[in-house]
Amino acid sequence: MRSRIAVLVSGRGSNLQALLDHLDRLDDARTSDVVVVISNRSEAAALEIARRRDIPAEHLAFPDDGAALMALLARHRVDLVVLAGYLKRVPAEVIRKYQGRVLNVHPALLPSFGGEGMYGSRVHEAVVAAGERETGVTIHLVDDEYDRGSIVAQWRIPVATGETALSLAGRVLELEHFIYPRTIEMVAALTLRDARTSA
Ligand code: GRF
Repeated sequence: MRSRIAVLVSGRGSNLQALLDHLDRLDDARTSDVVVVISNRSEAAALEIARRRDIPAEHLAFPDDGAALMALLARHRVDLVVLAGYLKRVPAEVIRKYQGRVLNVHPALLPSFGGEGMYGSRVHEAVVAAGERETGVTIHLVDDEYDRGSIVAQWRIPVATGETALSLAGRVLELEHFIYPRTIEMVAALTLRDARTSA
């Protein structure tokens, strides 16, 4: 049995790609499968990545409508929800139903440099402007506030002297591609174990 993952996306989908590549490499040793990719934006490049692999790609026209997202997740029998560049708030009923099973990746060391509006280049610009010596990647459980759920994994890298927001963005993204798929697999394995114990 494998954990069934839904990936929620709004944009280019490089983390989705990294996850799919990681699962391909694991082959039969994987503990999870991406069974659906869902986007609030019909033109998101990430949906195309899914279609090319024959993974169902769903456009969520009304992302604030919790019932619509719940129905999609139920239809695909999803165990774990993974946000990968998803810019909308996950409705409260979904958080409640999938408590401890909704993950997000953030390109900085939360609780710093997070919260509403802190995404994309803004995060790295803020890190550079604050003169931080370190930044990194945070993977956390999603609750009903932006970037505030329990931290599952965090990885630090030094900010070099004279580093720009752009160079930092590239290095942090590369790190995300390494640690997010591995953390997702770890959480997927725990989700399966919990499901077996309570069955
Ligand atoms: C990543 O930097 C991630 O940390 C943030 O959104 C970005 C998504 O990039 N949550 P991509 O769509 O996976 O390429």
